[in-house]
Amino acid sequence: MDKRVDRFDRKIDRGRMKRKMSEDLETVQAVVDKRTAMILYGLINRGYLDGVKGVVSSGKESNVYWATVEKWGETRDLAVKIFRTSTMDFKHIWVYIQGDPRFSRVKRDTRSIVYTWAEKEFKNLRLAEGAGVRVPKPIVCRGNVLVMEFIGEDGVAAPRLKEAEVEDPESVFEIVFDYVVRLYEKAELVHADLSEYNVLFWDEPVIIDVSQAVLLSHPLAVEFLIRDIRNVLRYFSGLGVNVPSLEEAYRRVTGEELEWRTESL
Ligand SMILES: Nc1ncnc2c1ncn2[C@@H]1O[C@H](COP(=O)(O)OP(=O)(O)OP(=O)(O)O)[C@@H](O)[C@H]1O
Ligand SMILES: [Mg+2]
Repeated sequence: MDKRVDRFDRKIDRGRMKRKMSEDLETVQAVVDKRTAMILYGLINRGYLDGVKGVVSSGKESNVYWATVEKWGETRDLAVKIFRTSTMDFKHIWVYIQGDPRFSRVKRDTRSIVYTWAEKEFKNLRLAEGAGVRVPKPIVCRGNVLVMEFIGEDGVAAPRLKEAEVEDPESVFEIVFDYVVRLYEKAELVHADLSEYNVLFWDEPVIIDVSQAVLLSHPLAVEFLIRDIRNVLRYFSGLGVNVPSLEEAYRRVTGEELEWRTESL
């Protein structure tokens, strides 16, 4: 029964999306600046995408669009995340860029920082993927435009964990927790903004939004990790999952004891 209701809901959503879409086509062109439009044309010319078809989400620092590309006679859905220069909180994002040895030579002008932010997400997606963490498959990154696998169907994004109907929260918790461990152990990354808002659910949890994720060498990596673990424990314990204590969870991720010097975050 739940499944049927779910499908029905999605159908309504899709109808709404389609109606919005014709407006959105114009919006995309009106919203992006000339430089971004040029980057999009470049990607179209190189065959990465055929066109942008609709808006998936408009956030404070980025907009996510649905695009498609025809490959080997099949139409593939893509997500195109465009980072906005105008509304970016540079003071906030600088914390995550500074201290990351991969980006120690970044220039401090607005555009360089936004481009770095996009590239950081692209590289982090690759690292996460290599560590066996389910993330949208990264495809290409040019300037402030990041192209990746679309999680969802027909331009309708998968629900976020926050809104998803999860039948077996225990096993979803285990998977998400395992992803935190894999990120830490194999990718040497801390997500740094992990919560039920940055995990999509499409048959399985999919971790998204990794532009702020930092290497373990970042001076605040431990603080970010504790915050991530806290969020995950809080969310799943709210769903009735018997979660470990913060100390135990921290030990499982890092193999080390939690030192109580990090209450501030
Ligand atoms: N690969 C993807 N496939 C489908 N939908 C996606 C994808 N990536 C992002 N989205 C959608 O776009 C939304 C925002 O993406 P993301 O969290 O990466 O950006 P953000 O900059 O944090 O935006 P916000 O400020 O709205 O959180 C997601 O909640 C999701 O609905
Ligand atoms: Mg987000």
